[in-house]
Amino acid sequence: MRITYFGHACFQVEVGGKHLLFDPFISGNPLAEGIDIDNIAADYILISHAHDDHTRDAIAIAKRTGATIVGIWEIYSWALRNGIEKAHPMNIGGSWKFDFGTVKMTDAVHSSSFADGSYGGSPAGFYIETTEGNLYYAGDTALFNGMKMLGKYHNVDLAFLPIGDNFTMGVDDALIASRFIKCDQIIGMHFDTFGFIQVDHAQAIEKFKQRDRLLTLMEIGQTIEWTK
Ligand code: NI
Ligand code: MN
Repeated sequence: MRITYFGHACFQVEVGGKHLLFDPFISGNPLAEGIDIDNIAADYILISHAHDDHTRDAIAIAKRTGATIVGIWEIYSWALRNGIEKAHPMNIGGSWKFDFGTVKMTDAVHSSSFADGSYGGSPAGFYIETTEGNLYYAGDTALFNGMKMLGKYHNVDLAFLPIGDNFTMGVDDALIASRFIKCDQIIGMHFDTFGFIQVDHAQAIEKFKQRDRLLTLMEIGQTIEWTK
């Protein structure tokens, strides 16, 4: 599968011929100035929670591309209220088989409200099984015990974990999370974008290396080909 980083917690994953876009926050990210949101392909936009740094560009990209917005009930309702016709509601613990793979909405320990203060439902993550490998996109979350269930009952091949600390878990807890979920290939997210979440890249990568794990911190705009 092909993975492109658009900054903060926003990734595009090309799998099974479909473009999945996670938590689009690009126009508000000064570090992602070089990214043109009008050039991003999307068939599905998966949204972990309602915070502005995860939803800012979702409506605009969905309207232009016709992508289906996937999120918890309150995110789905928000999408419909904003004129989106294709949206798929889920809730924590539920799975749905899409044409690119099966998505299970996972727990996340965080908060979730829209920019206007309205309720965004529970924060969530996504565990996605595809023929090209299984992904865990944790969303904004603390380290939590429930991650062990993914490690015990599922097969995570590649995980997107927040590492920025302060608003989410930091590097040390992400390392523990990688053990909980039994996945040694981690792509870091939710770091460097604004104050409070600056990360020393070399030190973070080294900490994972010492535990025989690979932490990848992608450059904004970078695309990698990942194979299981
Ligand atoms: Ni958040
Ligand atoms: Mn966030």
